[in-house]
Amino acid sequence: MNSTAPLLETLQDMEPARDDFLGSVVEGLNAPQKHLHCKFLYDEEGSHLFDDICELPEYYPTRTEIGILESHAPDIASVIGPRAQIVEFGSGAGIKIRLLLSALTDPVAYMPVEISREHLLAASANLASDFPALRIAPVCADYTQPFTLPDLESETPANIAGFFPGSTIGNFTRDEAVKFLALTRRLLGRDATMIIGIDLVKDIDTLRAAYNDTKGVTAAFNLNFLKRINRELDADFDLAAFEHDARWNPELERIEMHLVSKTDQTVTIGENRFAFRKGETIHTESSHKYRIKGFRALAREAGYEPERVWTDERNYFSVHALRAV
Ligand code: AVI
Repeated sequence: MNSTAPLLETLQDMEPARDDFLGSVVEGLNAPQKHLHCKFLYDEEGSHLFDDICELPEYYPTRTEIGILESHAPDIASVIGPRAQIVEFGSGAGIKIRLLLSALTDPVAYMPVEISREHLLAASANLASDFPALRIAPVCADYTQPFTLPDLESETPANIAGFFPGSTIGNFTRDEAVKFLALTRRLLGRDATMIIGIDLVKDIDTLRAAYNDTKGVTAAFNLNFLKRINRELDADFDLAAFEHDARWNPELERIEMHLVSKTDQTVTIGENRFAFRKGETIHTESSHKYRIKGFRALAREAGYEPERVWTDERNYFSVHALRAV
């Protein structure tokens, strides 16, 4: 409990299961197209590198989405309505949730849902000191799995809204995206609003540059995966023997990050050995880009009716308001 923030409620801890990192890595590297799950990119160093990516001149999504939120916050707030209860998927310590909360009329509660207890508590305390009238009820849970929200026992029913900025849903497959949205739909209930940021299909050069930046920060972010495996799983990846590549997949309309083996080599992870041919890749992340119509169809499959969409003048990024039906 933070003494300067009396409205910071006790953490609701759903005790999310710990990931089986070794099992996931071994399974992925035994597949015909070697792959690793992108959620493991975010150890401490990976999270810092991702923060640095968001500041890069080539990485347009963060600043474009912030621009849209700045320009349209009053409109977004009026779609949500007064006395709102906001559920954020991921803990938004940053500027985006502040822009939204500042535009809302008398918001009553904010519930960040986040798997990392440490990040969740730090972000909640931070926000509590800036919004002293807001009830903040942090929930420690894996938001891709079913969970429940704390009952705040308010006399007046609030307008419920979900918030999922950053186009993080782009890192899910299409099926995972529908499944996740359907889960949020059940959690938030009928008539709730879902505000979600979606990166759009655009010219290939802009997309490629955003994931192959000249400073090499995205390369470091990708290669950090191997560093993490070496450190945590007793492995011997030679980082200099792999290189970062981000390529556009036109059929699936997604950027794929890969780590390319520069030579024929063998890598040991604990008891396991993996052979790599020169040029063979490990697929580490997909970042799906949507068209507005395509994303709206996906939202409908999950039980939402698209209500509004806001974009920037270049049509690089979109923020959607969906209504739970
Ligand atoms: C978190 N996510 C939306 C980022 C993206 O653009 O797909 C992760 C990222 N990977 C490389 N650069 C940024």
